[in-house]
Amino acid sequence: MARVINFSAGPATLPLPVLEYAQKEFLDHEGTGMSLVEHSHRGAAYAEVHAETKSLLRELLDIPETHEVLFMQGGATAQFALVPLNLRAPGESADYVMTGAWSDKALAEAKITGDAREAGTGKVDGKYTRVPKQAELDLDAKAAYVHYTSNNTIMGTQFPYVPDTANAPLVADMSSDILCRPLDVSKFGLIYAGAQKNLGPAGITVLILRKDLAERSPDTLNKIFRYSTILNGDSLQNTIPTFPVYMVRNVLRWVRDQGGAAAMEKRNLEKAGCIYDMIDGATDFFRCPVERDSRSIMNPVFRLPTEELEAKMIAEAADAGMVGIKGHRSVGGIRTSIYNAMEPSDVQKFVDFAKAFAKANG
Ligand SMILES: Cc1ncc(COP(=O)(O)O)c(C=O)c1O
Repeated sequence: MARVINFSAGPATLPLPVLEYAQKEFLDHEGTGMSLVEHSHRGAAYAEVHAETKSLLRELLDIPETHEVLFMQGGATAQFALVPLNLRAPGESADYVMTGAWSDKALAEAKITGDAREAGTGKVDGKYTRVPKQAELDLDAKAAYVHYTSNNTIMGTQFPYVPDTANAPLVADMSSDILCRPLDVSKFGLIYAGAQKNLGPAGITVLILRKDLAERSPDTLNKIFRYSTILNGDSLQNTIPTFPVYMVRNVLRWVRDQGGAAAMEKRNLEKAGCIYDMIDGATDFFRCPVERDSRSIMNPVFRLPTEELEAKMIAEAADAGMVGIKGHRSVGGIRTSIYNAMEPSDVQKFVDFAKAFAKANG
């Protein structure tokens, strides 16, 4: 078996033991004589998976009783539309902190159905190369909620702090950094994340909702799109994608066995440190476009002296068994997505390769 080192931004690498476990019991789920994917979403076998997934996430993020874990479909993109539809009443406005392509999309969706405004930006000279500091946020005291993207997968920026929004509920798109470190969930009204980076495969979106906010879901919204429906139906109002949830459970078991969110943070800081040290140690060849305080520990990005050299590096990395390092097409450059599952030893292999590449081409 020749597995490559996969630096893709998402769907992304998953822990090998998690994949092997799923493979091993794919045909016969826990002695039931059938695959989990053949079980009813209302049967006992899936019910156990569902409950364990929720309770593991509760345990790992220390989720308080005020909040509930929900599962939805349509990715984070569906949440761009559903957050305003559920949380903003007619005549109200919502605040959006702008830090990249995903916040742009979230704001654009919010504007389709009502009022929304920019409440801060990470743009410098037309490019998103940082996240704004708390003091730079321009918050509307009457906002229905404040939305931000905690980690900007494309730009390689990440908030080093949780914004303080006074009374307005804080809504976070945590698609690319949920569970990368411990979190004070009580500060949030809603957290949402597509599973396909830190939590499992594509197909399910995890929400952590402050339960009282479900009361805002309007009767004018179709039932399947209401947070209140999902909350009251324990995310089983229709046929849930059972396999993605099962995979998320397996990933969460792995995170727990590694030592939980604190262990993830330590591992992620070590991996990101390794890449940023490489960049900062060879500034005549590598350049990180992101302001130091805003650097992501999930998606470090960097540039080489020319685009030709970047293309050469991407090709040579692939030859050496390291794939997915091409920066997003909208920004170019190199991006190394190093989510929880990425092994520190594999990051070290990449850094050794990159240093040798710099030496040979510098
Ligand atoms: C921060 C962030 N938000 C939203 C999305 C869109 O997610 P989805 O494709 O699940 O709708 C992505 C996807 O990469 C992302 O990184």
